[in-house]
Amino acid sequence: MSTSHPVITIDGPAASGKSSIARIVARRLGFTYVNTGNMYRAMTWAVLQAGVDPQDADAVRTAAAGIVIDSPVVEGKTQVCVVGHTLSDGELNSDPVNRAVSFIARVPEVRERLVADQRALIAIGPLVMEGRDIGSVVFPDSPHKIYVDASEEVRASRRSAQGHADQVAERDRLDKQRKASPLVVPDGAIVIDNSHITLEQAVEQVLAALKLS
Ligand code: DC
Repeated sequence: MSTSHPVITIDGPAASGKSSIARIVARRLGFTYVNTGNMYRAMTWAVLQAGVDPQDADAVRTAAAGIVIDSPVVEGKTQVCVVGHTLSDGELNSDPVNRAVSFIARVPEVRERLVADQRALIAIGPLVMEGRDIGSVVFPDSPHKIYVDASEEVRASRRSAQGHADQVAERDRLDKQRKASPLVVPDGAIVIDNSHITLEQAVEQVLAALKLS
């Protein structure tokens, strides 16, 4: 799909550091930052609120059809709102959401809805959008693709330092093996290994790799 504004796509596994990098790159460039993981997390939160079993794909499909996620921009980044309620970081990163989100994200109808919402965000202006399938599925024609990787060890210790109980290896396994748009290195993406460099070095590598005119 062609884009009217530039979109920098940043994909990678859980806790690779892509959110911190994406947020700073967006701020430096004056682009709007979109964390698409939070859209899948908001959908998961709403499905759990509805009392649906996250592993029951039919029930998830039915519940998700009635859930609308709004993404208003506040201070340069999109928030996630479900029926007027802006979800807090605590709600988005709660243990139940961490455990369930990969099951919700593998339902093709959920992905179709959220991918359409993500593409529509281009109306806001230039974007830095991060997730798992942004360079491969959401904006495959973007010339500005980054894939941030880090060793499993580094990622697990980063997540526990953030105080979250999050089985990152298990989530990655589900995200890479699912049928609907699995996590891959997108064609044309520049890969940054974020295991042993500082956040500032990673940001500099991304900015140096981008060919923005
Ligand atoms: O980026 P994150 O760890 O907050 O993402 C949470 C989950 O959402 C992740 O385990 C898989 C799913 N996700 C996805 O399937 N596609 C995206 N573009 C972003 C996230």
